[in-house]
This record gives sequence, C-alpha cells and structure tokens, in this order.
Amino acid sequence: MDTVVSGIRPTGNLHLGNYFGALKNFIKMQNENNCYFFIADYHSLTTHPTPADLHGNVKSVLIDYLAAGLDPEKATLYLQSDLPETAELYLFLNMNAYLGELERVTSFKDKARSQPDNINAGLLTYPTLMAADIIIHKAHKVPVGKDQEQHLEMTRTFANRFNRLYKVDYFPEPVAYNFGEQLIKIPGLDGSTKMGKSEGEGNAIFLNDEPAVIRKKIMKAVTDSGPTEPNQPKPQAIENIFALMKALSAPDTLAHFEEAYNECRIRYGDMKKQLAEDAIAFTEPFREKMRELAADDNYLRRVVNMGKEKAHASAGQTIREVREIIGFKSF
Ligand code: TYM
Repeated sequence: MDTVVSGIRPTGNLHLGNYFGALKNFIKMQNENNCYFFIADYHSLTTHPTPADLHGNVKSVLIDYLAAGLDPEKATLYLQSDLPETAELYLFLNMNAYLGELERVTSFKDKARSQPDNINAGLLTYPTLMAADIIIHKAHKVPVGKDQEQHLEMTRTFANRFNRLYKVDYFPEPVAYNFGEQLIKIPGLDGSTKMGKSEGEGNAIFLNDEPAVIRKKIMKAVTDSGPTEPNQPKPQAIENIFALMKALSAPDTLAHFEEAYNECRIRYGDMKKQLAEDAIAFTEPFREKMRELAADDNYLRRVVNMGKEKAHASAGQTIREVREIIGFKSF
C-alpha cells in the first residue's frame, strides 16, 4: 500500500483551485492508501497571522476537509503543529540545504518580490519544511496542484541527499500525483492564470461562498467582445472561463459553448449565467455540511486528537530511525 501525504495552508477558506488541485484527490485516495492529510499551520506563520486569525483559519480548513468528504476513520487528519517530529526533521534537512538552491525556488522569488519587508528565513526554508512534512511519513505520493511541482522536486533532492550522505536507502522518492494526469492549475476569474487566496478580490470562488456572491463574481469575470473569426484561438481570460466550465459543468454544456465560440455566436453573458448556476449547484452540498460542522466543536476536537495520535505513531518511528542513522545514539 502506498503512503500518501499532503497539506493545505490555513490562510482562509478553501477555493475551487484547492479543491480541484488537491482536496478532490485526497478524497479519492483515502480509500486505498495509507493517507496523511494535515493543515500546514507552521507554514502559514511566514505571514505573521494573529493568534485569533490563525486558529480561525485552521478551524475553517478542518471544516472544509470534512465537509468535502475526508473521513477521519480512513485518513489521518492532523495539524502540522501537533507533530513536532516534523520540526526536528526540518532542522536536520536544513543542515544539508544550500542558500543558492533555496534562493532559486520560484515561490521564494515571488514572495520576496511581493513582500519585500518580510523576507524571513521561514520563507527561504519553506521547501525544507515541506520536504520534512512529506518524508516524515516516508511518503510515495503527494496529491498537489501544478504550483507545487518544484517543491516536490526539492523534496526528492533533499530525500536523496540524506540517503547519499548517510549511505542508506531510507527515504523513498515522493512524486507529485494526479492519477497519471497532468497536475491541475485552476485559473482565476480576473483573467490571471491561477485562482488563489492572495491574488485579489473576485479572483477566487470559495467553497463557502453564498449563491449571490458566486453569481456576482462570475458575472464580473473578465471577458472580451467575442471572437471575430471562426475557430479562433482563445485569449487567456476566455480560456479561463472555459477551463472553469470544464471543471464545473456537464460535458454537453461545455460542448455547446465551445461550438458557439467556434462559430462566432457566443454570448458571454449567457455562458457566465450558466457557469454561475453550475458553480452554485456544485458547492451547495459543501455549504450545508460546513454549517453543521462549524457548530460541532466536540467532533472537531475528536478528529484532531485522533489524527495527532496516528500521525505521532508514524512520525515517531521515522524520527527515532533518523536520529539513529545520523548518529544520535543513546548511551
Ligand atoms: P496551498 O495552501 O497554497 O495550496 C493547497 C493545495 O491547493 C493547490 N492549489 C491549486 N491547485 C490548482 N489550481 C489552483 N489555482 C490552486 N491553488 C492552490 C496547491 O497546489 C496545493 O496542493 N506548500 C503547500 C502546503 C504544504 C504541502 C506540504 C503540500 C505544506 N507542506 C506537504 C503537500 C505536501 C501550499 O502552500 O499549498
């Protein structure tokens, strides 16, 4: 049986990008693998959240996990900060991670550009913490979206480097996983290529958005005046609307609008109305379950306590073996 690990940062409610890029596959994989899914609360500290915001966001991601169908009896669901073994492994990996390679990571360069007043060491070593999360359970598969591909490459580098340094065949090489398909990148509503929490108001549809909010966001999505020639290539913003429709709507709905586009008779207003209704129908079951879960703190507490125990059992064994390999032997 394969071991599967993945996590999501608690930076607010989850959006359709998180769902299609990651969560949907967590749910598919939980039945047939040894799965660990966590909330990456250590990672979110790079942006210095207040204690109240941090706790609130952790709770909403936990609710989103459960509402989307993760089952704590099948997968181990836990908080990253409940597993100090991860922090210890992160320390070990940092001793063998180099400034040049960390500075070259695209996500680091992007953050350094977007938050020049807060280029902290946690941002620089983000990939070593992520590698620690993954290899602490000796994972084989990591379900993530396209934007995490480079981090997975780094994880393999760090795992291999450890094996080579200590002349052991200890950590497997984990791969970014999407059932043999290309990794997913859900675009934003503002014409940008990625739906994201930090990409600005109106870019993302959140799983807990009310129908009126979804309608408003989709009707405002960037489009243009339409194609002028048959079978014209689609500009990015139009490509985005079609990609969202592919994720959310029935195949014949998509085919109908593709045909209209290719025949230059598409009306984007109609397409967006249809997309909004399909997005509302798609998210409706999540919203209902989220409301129920938000009122059940006892259940949420039971879930994280159970996850913590199971995660400790796995991580504890790894860290004992890693300490032994490194040479921290008891007298
Ligand atoms: P985060 O919190 O930014 O995103 C969580 C997951 O959602 C995916 N995702 C997307 N997929 C497709 N299209 C999009 N527009 C989109 N936006 C987000 C991400 O690819 C990711 O899978 N570093 C990670 C969290 C993390 C982690 C780990 C993941 C920490 N440790 C260990 C896997 C294994 C992150 O910031 O994800």
